[in-house]
Amino acid sequence: MGTLIRGGTVVTATDTYPADVLVEGETVSMLGQKLAEAGHDVVDAAGAYVFPGGIDPHTHLDMPFGGTVTADDFETGTRAAALGGTTTIIDFALHTKGDSLHNALKTWHAKAADKACIDYAFHLTIADGRDETMAEIPKIIDEQGVNSFKVFMAYKHILQVDDETIFKTLQTCAVAGGLVQVHAENGDVIEVTTKQALAAGHTEPKWHALTRPVECEGEATHRAIRLAEIAGAPLYVVHVSSAMAADAISDGRKRGLSIYGETCPQYLVCDSSDYDRPDFKGAMYVLSPPIRDKWNQAVLLRKLKNMELHSFGSDHCSFNLCGQKELGKDNFSKIPNGAPTIEDRLAILYDVGVNQGVLGLNQFVALGSTNAAKLFGLFPRKGTIAVGSDADIVVWDPAKERTISAKTHHMNVDNNVFEGMKIKGRPRYVFSRGLKVADGDTFTGRKGYGKFQRSAKFFPVQL
Ligand code: URP
Ligand code: ZN
Ligand code: ZN
Repeated sequence: MGTLIRGGTVVTATDTYPADVLVEGETVSMLGQKLAEAGHDVVDAAGAYVFPGGIDPHTHLDMPFGGTVTADDFETGTRAAALGGTTTIIDFALHTKGDSLHNALKTWHAKAADKACIDYAFHLTIADGRDETMAEIPKIIDEQGVNSFKVFMAYKHILQVDDETIFKTLQTCAVAGGLVQVHAENGDVIEVTTKQALAAGHTEPKWHALTRPVECEGEATHRAIRLAEIAGAPLYVVHVSSAMAADAISDGRKRGLSIYGETCPQYLVCDSSDYDRPDFKGAMYVLSPPIRDKWNQAVLLRKLKNMELHSFGSDHCSFNLCGQKELGKDNFSKIPNGAPTIEDRLAILYDVGVNQGVLGLNQFVALGSTNAAKLFGLFPRKGTIAVGSDADIVVWDPAKERTISAKTHHMNVDNNVFEGMKIKGRPRYVFSRGLKVADGDTFTGRKGYGKFQRSAKFFPVQL
């Protein structure tokens, strides 16, 4: 007996058509009109869109950072993701300087294995450019099923690496079939501006943004793209926050380079005035790169529409205001960087993109799911609805309205940067490899159900 998702409109990155979807076991077995019930469980998709499950290519679960550990682990984070329509996450396994990449991966496998409620894959960060580290990269790609490696140009003395390490990583990945991801902000400049601000007695959250001006992101994005160009390597720029950085990506692509850009929901709906919120609430928006002036939002959205930005990650990195963000009550540089966004990622893209008439439905699917599957070696098992693909499916009710709030969200954290936002469109049901994991607001899946997904080698896809 299977599950028959009946009467909806199937939407993939390329097609939109009315069809029933039959799920048998963990995969889609048939698509067609008026498929026979034949004893299957029937799921009502009338008036709904049937999307491939969302793929969130940027999460930080159970991650030590900023003197604490993110509030969501693989259980609470993936449960919230499922309720928001995401069925696969790609989390960052943190490499430690001097240690092996294999060890980092082992640690992250242990964090996820018995907890994840939906499927997951990994990126690895690169903490040093030692020969041993570079030598491991091809083995990680070929044997461990991880195809992407993040380098940080910021967080000096913590995660930041120098240009030599970035360049070596780019060269190594270009040969081995890996994709380098970059956190593009000039960490050396930020180190100076931060010290100067603190010395002048500026301690409030808004100084996080004031000490990381947009030029820091623009310069680093340009530099990273030029390094990739010299190395002959593809590059994926994570969490693009500004028009300046997005323009650098567009320029690189005009030169024929394989550069991809990701932006995040917080950059589409939050703006720099959020740092002025009273009672230390501005600390909720302390994330990097920082939230920018409002006019950047429309530019980023237009770049998503024009395929100059290619993917939509949450950069979910949750910290409680109480007890965690508070670490920086008297010093903005000690506020742990990050925000809880895994649950509302798709709803925000839908509301700001589709409801406002900027993005088409196929673009919504491409940005929320398919493009990440292609870049990170999961397609076509994930990222589409097709016979033989994993039955990761969202039955999406476009008419359902709700107001986002930390009081009702499912993330394990006491704040939500989208608090009070009224949005239209949300999952009616969510399936992960055939298992119903969300029924409206109720989680119906199970802890430990999620499986590690091996990423195939990267090859430059046309997006
Ligand atoms: O502020 C952020 N983005 N925290 C997560 C770490 C990162 O840089 O992605
Ligand atoms: Zn980053
Ligand atoms: Zn991140």
